[in-house]
Amino acid sequence: MATPPLLPAMATHRLLLLTVSLLLSSLFQAALSTTFTLTNSCAYTVWPGLLSSAGTPTLDTTGFALAPGESRAVEAPAAWSGRLWARTGCASDSNGRLACGTCDCGSGALECAGGGAAPPCSLAEFTLAGSGGNDFYDVSLVDGYNIAMAVQPQLAAGAVAADGAAAGCAATGCMADLNGPCPADLKVSGPDGAGIACKSACEAFGRPEDCCSGDFGTPAACRPSQYSNFFKNACPRAYSYAYDDATSTFTCASGTASYLLVFCPATSTGSMASLKSSVGVGSTNPSPLVNNTVSYLDRSRDGGRGERYPSSSSNASTSSSPAPSPLAVMAVAAWTWLCTTRHQRLLSSS
Ligand SMILES: *[C@@H]1O[C@H](CO)[C@@H](O)[C@H](O)[C@H]1NC(C)=O
Ligand SMILES: *[C@@H]1O[C@H](CO)[C@@H](O)[C@H](O)[C@H]1NC(C)=O
Repeated sequence: MATPPLLPAMATHRLLLLTVSLLLSSLFQAALSTTFTLTNSCAYTVWPGLLSSAGTPTLDTTGFALAPGESRAVEAPAAWSGRLWARTGCASDSNGRLACGTCDCGSGALECAGGGAAPPCSLAEFTLAGSGGNDFYDVSLVDGYNIAMAVQPQLAAGAVAADGAAAGCAATGCMADLNGPCPADLKVSGPDGAGIACKSACEAFGRPEDCCSGDFGTPAACRPSQYSNFFKNACPRAYSYAYDDATSTFTCASGTASYLLVFCPATSTGSMASLKSSVGVGSTNPSPLVNNTVSYLDRSRDGGRGERYPSSSSNASTSSSPAPSPLAVMAVAAWTWLCTTRHQRLLSSS
């Protein structure tokens, strides 16, 4: 039997190049990945679901259970986009299939495996490394509501000036529990009659004016309704209808933040205390994260003081961190750009 021919020099060279570029690209991938930390502050178990948008890489997990008080970190690659949510009231049926009271993804299992959330469902939406070198994120009630959630960017030390170039890098979410106060014609009730979710008007009635479709398919034509205002008043930073962009989309410079996603966030204590930061959208005053004047919110839980957002005199991580020098910001931007272009070049060269 003849010995296998030696690899031609050219092929060896290419192999080496491929190995090196794979090594480097995995290094850059790691350096450019973004961490989502999901925390369950609810008194009950939730089952997060994660869905990658078409054309972006899948994550290591697409769903799992999170006990009360538990946290789990999920790494997302650079340039990931997709959505995260919390299934509630899940139980296995006699065939061992997991079925959930809200936001079921249809997989019958912990992992959603590409399945999306059945509305009504509160959604956290992300586009990492989007246009202008920014991460875009929002909490959307366009598909309805099932749980209170907050997205809080965690800034790499000194990477972003809270009130400088990245003024939109703020906490967002819907802090209010709307399952009780949900209007009767939008309400979804569980077996015991208590509200477990709240439909959007689009889902409940299917009218073009609620769905921003047909003649109402433009931002000018699709206006807030009494129904979308129910959500907007309680959760001023969350999307309440499809064209609610102006007050609902937030951005952080890509690569400068990881993201904390908290289900049932406490509005006045603990890790969410820094949510009081008034840093918001663009140069205008941002909407408050909690609207204390909304009359239907339950005020009994904290002695009638309302689900108050801590006052601006208390300590916030964002306002106490020193503003970085413009040089540092430029260095980070340059490094990010270098890594990205190098990464792409290496990939295409292999
Ligand atoms: C707060 O809710 C009230 C209704 O209770 C509404 O009129 C007001 O516009 C809301 N504020 C914000 C910032 O959404
Ligand atoms: C802010 O933090 C300092 C030091 O941790 C503390 O002494 C002070 O009481 C805090 N202020 C408020 C308003 O929480």
